[in-house]
Amino acid sequence: MTTVDAPATTPVVEARAVVVDYHSRGHHTRALDQVSLSVEPGETVGLIGESGSGKSTLARTLLGLVPPTAGEVRYRDRDVYALGATARHRLLGRDTAMVFQDPRSSLNPRLSVGAVVRDPLHVQRIGDREAQRVAVAELLESVGLPAALARRPVRALSGGQLQRVALARALAVEPSLIVADEPTSALDVSVQAQILNLLRQIRSTRNLALLVVSHDMRVIRFLADRTAVMYQGRVVEEGPTEEVYTAPRHDYTKTLLAAAPVLHRG
Ligand SMILES: Nc1ncnc2c1ncn2[C@@H]1O[C@H](COP(=O)(O)OP(=O)(O)OP(=O)(O)O)[C@@H](O)[C@H]1O
Ligand SMILES: [Mg+2]
Repeated sequence: MTTVDAPATTPVVEARAVVVDYHSRGHHTRALDQVSLSVEPGETVGLIGESGSGKSTLARTLLGLVPPTAGEVRYRDRDVYALGATARHRLLGRDTAMVFQDPRSSLNPRLSVGAVVRDPLHVQRIGDREAQRVAVAELLESVGLPAALARRPVRALSGGQLQRVALARALAVEPSLIVADEPTSALDVSVQAQILNLLRQIRSTRNLALLVVSHDMRVIRFLADRTAVMYQGRVVEEGPTEEVYTAPRHDYTKTLLAAAPVLHRG
C-alpha cells in the first residue's frame, strides 16, 4: 500500500523564479534574479537585505503591482499576472494590503483620518455608510487610537499615530496578507517599539499572513517566523528566523549580522 503524504497547505502568495528588469533612460537594472519565496497562511516572513537588494520590488511584485519579466507569482494558487490588470487588482485589492515606510507621504494630509480608513471599504463596496462608520471606529480602537480621531485631519497627527492609521486602513478589508515595507524606519526610536508591538499583536490576534520588509535585523527578529535574506536581487538564504540569526550560512548574512547593533531582548 502506498502512503499518501498529507497535502501541503497552499501558500497565500508565492513567487516562482521571478525576474524583474527595470529599464529607465537607457539604463537596465535586474532588480530580481530568479527569486522564489512563499508566505503560508498565518505566517510572518521577514525580508532583509541592504539598500537596493530588491526587497521593495519583490514586495510590490507579490502584490500584483510590478509585472515580472520572467517567472510567476501565484496568489492562492492563481497565476496573478495571467489575469488582466483589472481582474488582478480586484483579486488582490479585496484580500491584501500594503503599509509603507512613511505614513506622511503615503496618506493624503488633506483627508480626515476616518476617510483614509474608510476608503478601502468604499472602494470594495463593503457595507453601507453607517456600517462603514462603525467599522472605522472599531478599526481605530483595534490599533490603539480613540474612535474620535476619525474626524481629525491626517496632517494633525504624529508619525506614530499615522502609522497606526495606516495599519487600521490596511486591516479594513480583513486581508489574508499584509505587506509592510520598512514600517518603522521613518519613526522615532520610542515610537518604533510601539508599532512593532502593535504589528506583533495584529499578527497573533488575526489570522493573516505578514511579509515584513526591513534592513534592520532587530525588526525582523522581533516579528518574523521565517526570514529570507536578499542580496543583489537574489534570495541568498532562507530559514526559521532564529536559525538565520544564530547560525547564518551565507557570507552575506554573516556580514549583515556583524554590522547589526546588538538586539536587546524584552
Ligand atoms: N522604478 C524603478 N525604475 C528603475 N530602477 C528601479 C526602480 N525601482 C527600483 N529600481 C532599482 O532596482 C533595484 C532594487 O530596488 P528596490 O527598491 O527593490 O531595493 P530595496 O531593497 O527595497 O532598497 P531600499 O532598502 O533602499 O528600499 C535598485 O537597483 C533600484 O535602483
Ligand atoms: Mg525598499
